[in-house]
Amino acid sequence: MDFSVIVLAAGKGKRMKSELPKVLHPILGRPMLNYVLDAVMQISPERIIVVVGYGADKIKETLSSIKVKYALQSKQLGTGHAVRCAKGAFRDYNGKILIVNGDFPLIRSETLKGFVENHKKTNTGISLLTAFLDSPEGYGRVVRNGKGDVIRIVEEKDATPKEKMIKEINSGAYCVESSFLWDVIGKIGSKNEQKEYYLPDIVNIATQSGKKISGFIVPDGEEVLGVNNREELARVEERLRKRTNEKLMLSGVTIVNPEVTYISPRVSIGADTVIYPNTFIYGNTKVGKDCKIGSSVWIEDSEIGDDVTIAFSSYIIKALIEDKSKIGPFAHLRPESQILSGAKIGNFVEIKKSKIGRGSKVPHLSYVGDASIGEGVNIGAGTITCNYDGFHKHETIIEDNVFIGSDTMLVAPIKVGKGATTGAGSTITKDVPPGALAIERSKQQVITGWKRKTKGKKGNE
Ligand code: UD1
Ligand code: CA
Repeated sequence: MDFSVIVLAAGKGKRMKSELPKVLHPILGRPMLNYVLDAVMQISPERIIVVVGYGADKIKETLSSIKVKYALQSKQLGTGHAVRCAKGAFRDYNGKILIVNGDFPLIRSETLKGFVENHKKTNTGISLLTAFLDSPEGYGRVVRNGKGDVIRIVEEKDATPKEKMIKEINSGAYCVESSFLWDVIGKIGSKNEQKEYYLPDIVNIATQSGKKISGFIVPDGEEVLGVNNREELARVEERLRKRTNEKLMLSGVTIVNPEVTYISPRVSIGADTVIYPNTFIYGNTKVGKDCKIGSSVWIEDSEIGDDVTIAFSSYIIKALIEDKSKIGPFAHLRPESQILSGAKIGNFVEIKKSKIGRGSKVPHLSYVGDASIGEGVNIGAGTITCNYDGFHKHETIIEDNVFIGSDTMLVAPIKVGKGATTGAGSTITKDVPPGALAIERSKQQVITGWKRKTKGKKGNE
């Protein structure tokens, strides 16, 4: 679309009582600013300028994979001042500008699209996105004249008791003609309760200069809820969780108790998958169909095939799990784990940066790191790949159809050839050729007729 966007994200968010910039506080595992940018990017503006200040470097780092430009507001003197700081980025631009706060993550892209389109139609110098809220406390109120035209915005702190009764609020989103914006932005003063340069004052100045303001009301007020403290953060997360879970359920996913299931809106889940309570699915995760997940499972940035079971208390980060695999209970899959189809990772097993071949099993109490395991392998209980010598990590290769006996220590780098076997309790330090048995333990001695030396021990006479 032929318009550009300014996103205001320079404030610290004092009411959050946090060192982390407010707009980076996560909602369902993702910084709230990213949700605003998602909505903005979906309507393809010509350019996006994010105004940063407090925690600027952290914000830039968080957004590093997104195509936006930055303007710096080194002192946070108010939202009007923040927009003024973006002026330099628009020197070569003449057209419409959408300005939004970085702290209203529930906003839908369709709403922003409708708002911009309406602005184009009405052909006013400035449009304002508003909503009616049952509890408008804390927001700037929208004052209309007898004809119903928007004439002013008054901040809560500057409002008279009568103005505080107004339920129509300023969402913090504006559509403005650039020429008008740069003309008016320098005229904003800071004579108010907070001694700040208020962006909403552009509306008041426009009215004074005889300009018409068009107010665009969002039917679903929930979309423009801002986050200023942690209580609002939790409330907004709850709404987003509901919205996301509802969509998944209607698409054929069973969520046993949606009140206690936390799924990021970016996650995709196939039909007939069942999600049990207390499960978190975050990041860039894809789950196939017919899976059973939970309860109390955490999955992040992972790809999960069809017909997979991930049982109680498993923790899965940046892993690939192919069709028909069984994971957990109590399994930990760390980044770069690849569990190929039909494999089984059982209780108290940790896998790191390893490939587990088709149909292979690591059923109990094992650590597998930096390993490549072939097909049809069985790893006995208590087996450990000793991948770290105190300085470097080393690789373990286990070829197809190997049988690793219980409690085997595989001291890497090491290779166990096709079809080989290791004896239980062995510490394997040399490569094992295909088909061989490697056993490393001292011979068992049996001393017959031996009786425990109990003499002198109290109560054992
Ligand atoms: C603002 C509006 C209010 C509106 C509400 C909607 C003003 C003065 N008031 O209030 O009318 O109802 O949003 O949620 O604008 N920011 C900067 N630089 C600054 C100050 C703020 O970039 O100097 C950024 C913040 O990071 C934030 C956004 O601007 O993303 C809004 O600031 P915030 O302090 O949350 O404004 P509100 O008090 O909520
Ligand atoms: Ca706010």
